[in-house]
Amino acid sequence: MPGKDLHSQPFDEGTITKLKIFENYAKEWIPTFVMSGSVKEIWIFDFFAGTGYDLNGVAGSPIRILQQIKNQIGNIPKKGTKINVYFNEFEKEKYNLLEESCKQFLSNNPELERGGLEVHYRNADFAELFPEAIEIIQEYPSLVYLDQNGMKFLSDKYFLELEKTKTTDFLFFLSSSYFWRFGNEKAFKDNLNIDMNKAKQNPYKYIRAF
Ligand SMILES: C[S@@+](CC[C@H](N)C(=O)[O-])C[C@H]1O[C@@H](n2cnc3c(N)ncnc32)[C@H](O)[C@@H]1O
Repeated sequence: MPGKDLHSQPFDEGTITKLKIFENYAKEWIPTFVMSGSVKEIWIFDFFAGTGYDLNGVAGSPIRILQQIKNQIGNIPKKGTKINVYFNEFEKEKYNLLEESCKQFLSNNPELERGGLEVHYRNADFAELFPEAIEIIQEYPSLVYLDQNGMKFLSDKYFLELEKTKTTDFLFFLSSSYFWRFGNEKAFKDNLNIDMNKAKQNPYKYIRAF
């Protein structure tokens, strides 16, 4: 099912709010492991990473992740934590922009790679990457960001594997318009059982607050 293409226009207010939520999460999550001093390696996965910036140069999730690592760079080498970041984008043109944006950011901020950051770039379908990635997620503390368009990957196949892991936090973003349109369908109910009769008692504009 085609979703809205976020990168063909500037990010809207809702997208920026979503990005801030993720960035704030990363801001708290990274020092939790780095400052413990006992965790030698952590991973951050952005499986649907987009291009790096929107048309107006507003940072998307991958650049926000790098920015949060930059904010902690004073502690990372001292504590000896290796930080791995895994950026994936399926569409080749977007992938090229993603890689260019991140490499530019890293070249402007060389202390990140010097301080223990390794960035892994992938240009693949999430479904194909997941088996390889879940093995890493099972082994190391991981922050997993799933920001797909649509609801194709809203599936037990992924949720159950992620739920079984012990030191993983995952954030799964789904457009509220999908709840409204498909909230009563089986694929939805199997994963998120929302009372759509109750949700639809209010106008659509309140769906986010439901
Ligand atoms: C909602 S956007 C992500 C936006 C990104 N978080 C940002 O801040 O710019 C979803 C992205 O997933 C990509 N995508 C779509 N299907 C994919 C798939 N099967 N595997 C990986 N990426 C996919 C799209 O090209 C799109 O760039």
